[in-house]
Amino acid sequence: MKKNNTAPTAVPCFGDTKIENHRLIVGGCDAAELAKKYGTPLYVFDVNYAVKTAAAYVNVLKREYPESTVCYASKAFCCTAIYKLLAPLGLGADVVSGGELFTALNGGMDPKKIYFHGNNKSEAEVKYAIESGVGYFVVDSLHELELISKHAKTPQNVLFRVNPGVEAHTHRFIQTTTPDSKFGFSIADGTAESVILSAQKYNNINFVGIACHIGSQIFEPQSFEIAIDKMVDFIVRLNSLGITVERLDLGGGFGVHYVAEDKPLTPEQYMAGSAKYLAASVQNRGIKKPHLIFEPGRSIVGEAGVTLYTVGAIKTIKDIKTYAAVDGGMFENPRPSLYDARYTAVVADKADCECDTLYSIAGKCCESGDILIDGIKLPELKSGDILATFTTGAYHYSMASNYNRNFVPPVVAVKDGKSAYMVKPQTYEDLIRNDVIPEFSEDGK
Ligand code: LLP
Repeated sequence: MKKNNTAPTAVPCFGDTKIENHRLIVGGCDAAELAKKYGTPLYVFDVNYAVKTAAAYVNVLKREYPESTVCYASKAFCCTAIYKLLAPLGLGADVVSGGELFTALNGGMDPKKIYFHGNNKSEAEVKYAIESGVGYFVVDSLHELELISKHAKTPQNVLFRVNPGVEAHTHRFIQTTTPDSKFGFSIADGTAESVILSAQKYNNINFVGIACHIGSQIFEPQSFEIAIDKMVDFIVRLNSLGITVERLDLGGGFGVHYVAEDKPLTPEQYMAGSAKYLAASVQNRGIKKPHLIFEPGRSIVGEAGVTLYTVGAIKTIKDIKTYAAVDGGMFENPRPSLYDARYTAVVADKADCECDTLYSIAGKCCESGDILIDGIKLPELKSGDILATFTTGAYHYSMASNYNRNFVPPVVAVKDGKSAYMVKPQTYEDLIRNDVIPEFSEDGK
């Protein structure tokens, strides 16, 4: 086994996780005991962390910018229970598909507080959203505007997604406002202005505002300030054309800790900073204060999540590296293979023991690229150890698949030392539920 002094030592305790007697504790529950009770791989979700963070956002905005709504970005983690937790705190929701909308409504989200995003909503989705009484569409194409107009029986509120052209420092696939982005209408080349003007011709389209989202896992508050400057300039321009902007949606994007080098601001700092900056900017420019919408996803649920795995095969490639393979992989966490995302991990019952052995944590999918952590120092591992990775509450369950016909792991909620399913485990029958042997009729039709 290779000993190495240069790889980072695992740094635990993101979110509200703790170590007691060398054991990792999440939401008051012993992680190794959860693994024993529910099996692995297992997503564990700390309810209090998510609720605390969401409530902090709502309170900060109430104080700094009362004309506002915090919408939870469903794509980060979508299941019925999350809306049951967040809707009572006053949050609305950002959804991007009929499926997310259905789940949000099932979880008790008020449709009037739902913003329907997405660059290519289908006609069926548009119709379903209108019939459900969705408050706002965030329009991303003229095709979509036509579809809304075709189905809306009463004037439908819409915002337009615009591209303010801000390059936030994040992975290129999670940046969204580069000039060649598929999202939004460019402010710089005049497209945004002309599509907003063209919307005036529909008598069942009620233009209420503009939206942007500059990227995700952003650490610099300046990125948001630049976006606010550009959005406010654009509002001034629209006002000069006689168009009022009632709502300004600034999207999400606040960063979280995945590894020790990540230095995000606190959720409160991100939110308060941007809200104050906008309030000052609106006052300086003498424009009507728009209703402000923020759509945090990752920063509400990311650090609430821990994933538990069982270590299986341990294999040393002589003079090169030692793989410790776990029972998860890219089917339950595709982020390392998609974005080179980095994670940290601990052994659940040796969480603060000396980490002197270097491993690559491999997943179980049939792909060489299925590596969850490429180089981490841990205590010497043995098969059967429970490994815990941090900050897995956002874009893990929601991006999971049944690749290689593995099960999407269940989600167990933890709170004050208690645990219960939030998403149940799948079964082999679930995997074949929709399988059919095609039967072709005799006449060939
Ligand atoms: N609003 C809009 C319009 C968005 O497109 C997004 C994320 C959000 C809000 C929420 O952003 P957040 O606060 O979570 O950063 N799968 C990638 C992240 C893609 C994010 C896409 N849009 C990942 O795993 O990092």
